[in-house]
Amino acid sequence: MTEAEPQAGPQPETAGPPRRRWILIHPLVVRITHWINAFAIVCMVMSGWQIYDASPIFNFVFPPWMTLGDWLGGGIAWHLAALWLLVVNGLVYISYGFASGHFSRDFFPLSARQVLLDIRSALTFNLKHTPGVYNAVQKLLYVAVLLLGVLAVISGLTLWKPVQLPWFAWLLGGYPTARVIHFFAMSGIVGFVIIHVALVIIVPRTLPTMITGRARLRPGEEIV
Ligand code: HEM
Repeated sequence: MTEAEPQAGPQPETAGPPRRRWILIHPLVVRITHWINAFAIVCMVMSGWQIYDASPIFNFVFPPWMTLGDWLGGGIAWHLAALWLLVVNGLVYISYGFASGHFSRDFFPLSARQVLLDIRSALTFNLKHTPGVYNAVQKLLYVAVLLLGVLAVISGLTLWKPVQLPWFAWLLGGYPTARVIHFFAMSGIVGFVIIHVALVIIVPRTLPTMITGRARLRPGEEIV
């Protein structure tokens, strides 16, 4: 995200030094993996709710219109198909994130103090959004959802292949506990998506940037 060199593109309307610059915020690999991931997560969650409804662990079921696959077998087929999309795509994103330095540069450093300061600024409508720079709340949310994704995949594999992967089940406290862990990992991811999309609605100019990769810096905005 910090490949912030000035890019070829529309130039300022007035003569003189450029007042607005186009910068590359999200590299192509981040954009492609992000949107594939968003599609895969929606399929995973909705088909997961279909599977859950066949044997609920809590005192409620998801209404049919929120589920994918029509029946248990269909839900499982969707869930496993989307799983491989999620895993392969996730591995590409995570490998790129580590290898390119994107994670260490853009998600860290991350401190509890900075998160609290940024929450306070957000609640008083003073949190600045500079294209190409994640605030501490965003960093925390992105790191948390990546860890929740890993937990969801590991607990899901445990539920799918408990005989072949007995050490996973042992690590997660047994099959019934793995089901509860899987459910709460899903809940965390859904909670993330709700907050994430709400933040995009609050700062809508981040959306085209996640599609084209480029953002226009306003006068006075600088990438630090
Ligand atoms: C339709 C739903 C979604 C929309 C509209 C959306 C939109 C966006 C936008 C605009 C950004 C850039 C934020 C910025 O530059 O300040 C972003 C980044 C990100 N989103 Fe989403 N997103 C969606 C779904 C998801 C889902 C389902 C996940 C994961 C469960 C996710 C995970 C992330 C992550 C990890 C980043 C940071 C990417 C990076 O820099 O490596 N998003 N999203």
